[in-house]
Amino acid sequence: MTRTIAVTGAAGQIGYSLLFRLAAGFVYGDEPIRLRLLEVPQALQALEGVVMELDDCAFTRLEAVEITDDPATAFDGVDAALLIGSMPRKKGMERADLLQKNGEIFSTQGRALVNAADHVKVVVTGNPANTNALIASHHAPDIPKTQFTALTRLDHNRALSQLAAKATEVTGEPVYVQDIEQVAIWGNHSATQYPDISHARLAGRSLAEVIGDEAWVADEFVPTVAKRGAAIIAARGASSAASAAHATLEHLRDWEHGSSGRWVSMAVHSQGEYDVPAGLVSSFPVVCTGGSYEIVTGLEIGAFSRQRIDASVAELQAERDTAQDLGVL
Ligand code: NAI
Repeated sequence: MTRTIAVTGAAGQIGYSLLFRLAAGFVYGDEPIRLRLLEVPQALQALEGVVMELDDCAFTRLEAVEITDDPATAFDGVDAALLIGSMPRKKGMERADLLQKNGEIFSTQGRALVNAADHVKVVVTGNPANTNALIASHHAPDIPKTQFTALTRLDHNRALSQLAAKATEVTGEPVYVQDIEQVAIWGNHSATQYPDISHARLAGRSLAEVIGDEAWVADEFVPTVAKRGAAIIAARGASSAASAAHATLEHLRDWEHGSSGRWVSMAVHSQGEYDVPAGLVSSFPVVCTGGSYEIVTGLEIGAFSRQRIDASVAELQAERDTAQDLGVL
């Protein structure tokens, strides 16, 4: 079966890191794929250059690449849509301005997704990702809300990497990211997000106990993960791209093929789980089971976690209220 994947903002820096790995089979392995690349008109020429490079890779499973500036064409019949392109926050821009601009982009794209396959999987990476996913979903009422998700896998991966390094330091033994399980990102993909290790395990033990340093968790780990994007901009002079592309592909791969029982983090529509108001797109720990995902249920939420989750959810509510005031929701 040939899959058709739409990628928006395809001439941008995340697009440049993502397209070649997608075409090489990172998500769909040996199954053939077609790419539909959406850009704004002024970026189409640059996108033609990217397509030339895709051609020059002679990927054996890449059947076709089409480029367009029309969302309805881009999404026609697609099995998955990676919504990466968005309006970045510029100096002096208020959050309302940002939501206004992105509200226009994501309401147009949401309406155009009516042309997608019924089973389309939508992953929103473009910021503000959670609220952009909410807006796109709102304008595509015929598509089940479960098919709209936003990316917090990068935050999840950042957390795993910090924790593996800390556990290596504390135990004096090499600890790899795959040794650590049940880490969760809650809330918004923003500095208010809550990376939670209260359920995390390392070789059957509580990771918090292994680390044994609550102050490190609260004062170093949580802010390091939450502010990692800004630290990368400060160091690189540009925002994270390769890691964001990798996380976007892992998000789609696990959603398509399952996460082998492991927890991953995805921002998905709340149905009131963990007192996150229904209707918000908020990050939760989920387990992917090949084509679908389930929010992990029944977790005990301690006082510290509750406070952090509530703070991030309050920000999501404020974004939703602003989007409603602006008429994009
Ligand atoms: P970029 O500026 O290099 O590329 C964005 C591309 O989107 C540009 O080529 C632009 O022409 C295109 N674009 C803008 N409006 C469009 C529209 N209406 N339709 C189609 N294409 C459109 O930005 P980059 O670095 O690739 O990042 C893309 C987005 O991803 C940004 O919003 C960034 O903040 C976000 N991001 C999200 C992360 C996450 O973990 N959720 C992590 C890192 C970045």
